Amino acid sequence: MNPTADVAAPLHTPLPAPLKVAVIIGSNREGRFGPVVADWLLGRLRERDDLTAEVVDTADAGLPTALSYSPTPEVTAELAKITPKLAAADAFVVLTPEYNHSFPASLKALIDWHYEEWRAKPVGFVSYGGVSGGLRAVEQLRQVFAELHAVTVRDTVSFHNAGASFDDEGRHRDPAAPDAAAKVMLDQLGWWGSALREAKAVRAYGG
Ligand SMILES: Cc1cc2nc3c(=O)[nH]c(=O)nc-3n(C[C@H](O)[C@H](O)[C@H](O)COP(=O)(O)O)c2cc1C
Repeated sequence: MNPTADVAAPLHTPLPAPLKVAVIIGSNREGRFGPVVADWLLGRLRERDDLTAEVVDTADAGLPTALSYSPTPEVTAELAKITPKLAAADAFVVLTPEYNHSFPASLKALIDWHYEEWRAKPVGFVSYGGVSGGLRAVEQLRQVFAELHAVTVRDTVSFHNAGASFDDEGRHRDPAAPDAAAKVMLDQLGWWGSALREAKAVRAYGG
């Protein structure tokens, strides 16, 4: 008699595929600080096995602020660089500075040139700026993404006086607090991303 015959075989539940996170750099300003913040976030994302990251940089796409249902070949070519990345993403992290108490026009153009790509997906935020740390920009973006049927996660990362918070090599001078904040935000993004991916596999979002 095989003594192990009645022992249930171990369950090998496959791990779910990592969620694809599009990291959107909202500023396209010449001399911008955004890439420093993006590199810091990408470092946090590389530490995780539940999320993979792809950068979508508004500076790489010359999207006009004048929208069109029949864009020129030039605009179509610019969209082709960006739209597939947004479509493939399970979740987004939007990096936004604050300009005059709001978010940059480059970011709004990227958002407005798309629609389906945002629907029923979670959005997290990393903001930076002067005294405000970009918090006002984030609160306004929550309203924008609600209109697009996206789900914004509660916790954010914000860098006040961002330029002074990083050294010349782009390292944060006191990383414990922002690293902890990033973990909370990315955990929430992962939860919502997994939940929505599973839900959409069963039933298409019809909202
Ligand atoms: C046009 C403009 C307006 C700004 N307005 C604000 C503001 O309202 N509140 C704030 O905290 N910082 C403000 N700042 C500071 C920026 O948030 C800060 O310089 C940030 O690094 C800009 O991001 P970027 O360098 O990636 O473009 C402003 C900067 C610019 C260029």
